Amino acid sequence: MSKAEAHSAAPAHAGLAPACGLRHAAIIMDGNGRWAARRNLPRFVGHKQGVEAVRTTVRAARDMGLEALTLYAFSSENWKRPEDEVSDLMGLLRHFIRADVDEFIANNVRLKIIGNYRVLAPDLVEMIDDIVERTAHNSGTTLVIALNYGAQDELVRATRALAAAAARGEVNADAIEAAHIDAMLDTSDLPPLDLLIRTSGEQRLSNFLLWQAAYAELYFTDTLWPDFDGNSLAEAFQSYATRERRFGGR
Ligand code: IPE
Ligand code: IPE
Ligand code: MG
Repeated sequence: MSKAEAHSAAPAHAGLAPACGLRHAAIIMDGNGRWAARRNLPRFVGHKQGVEAVRTTVRAARDMGLEALTLYAFSSENWKRPEDEVSDLMGLLRHFIRADVDEFIANNVRLKIIGNYRVLAPDLVEMIDDIVERTAHNSGTTLVIALNYGAQDELVRATRALAAAAARGEVNADAIEAAHIDAMLDTSDLPPLDLLIRTSGEQRLSNFLLWQAAYAELYFTDTLWPDFDGNSLAEAFQSYATRERRFGGR
């Protein structure tokens, strides 16, 4: 391959994330159902197309040099959906993990789960634990999938753990600070959240990363999740690059 060819084959927006000072982005992937409804298709087709958008977005994030990408895949409230939709979503998840494990390994992607995923079907839990372990030493992008995740549930679990530590005398209740809570959250080993994206035009957090989003920049797009791609991600990153983060200072 000539030098020119090598250049043209380089991924679009390579290195964009560090160039924007962005380490950790999260996405509320919303709008699969509306994407399908607009085409008179069953919701399942929207979810299936949503998985394709996950693949495209993970590849783009990796090419852009993002350290951590957190995707809201199934909330602790999504159990309220009809049983067949829940089962479709779990089936797609199972298929995604099985089909993409080799790509994660080949591309140095580390997989991490946040949320109370241990209550999912035992075969799924086993599959997840296996791939998490097999990618644990990968040093590229960390792909964080939020499964049966709710920020309030995460904070309840953290509070229980801290209360138990206090009862054992390991921590003094009066000395508990934000850092103790941080350390008990599912995200404790991730860089601070810089950017939170929500697709489909909705402007709410739906119980996602409430603590971690304290000073994150928010980005809302009307694009429905199945239509989201590398260019959409680059647009969000470019918007982030124009923000002035103050953290309460001036
Ligand atoms: C997001 O799309 C996928 C999940 C929540 C799992 P939705 O299924 O919420 O799609 P809309 O919001 O009904 O369009
Ligand atoms: C948030 O989307 C959850 C995920 C994207 C997994 P929802 O579609 O469930 O949120 P609401 O119900 O519109 O707030
Ligand atoms: Mg929705």
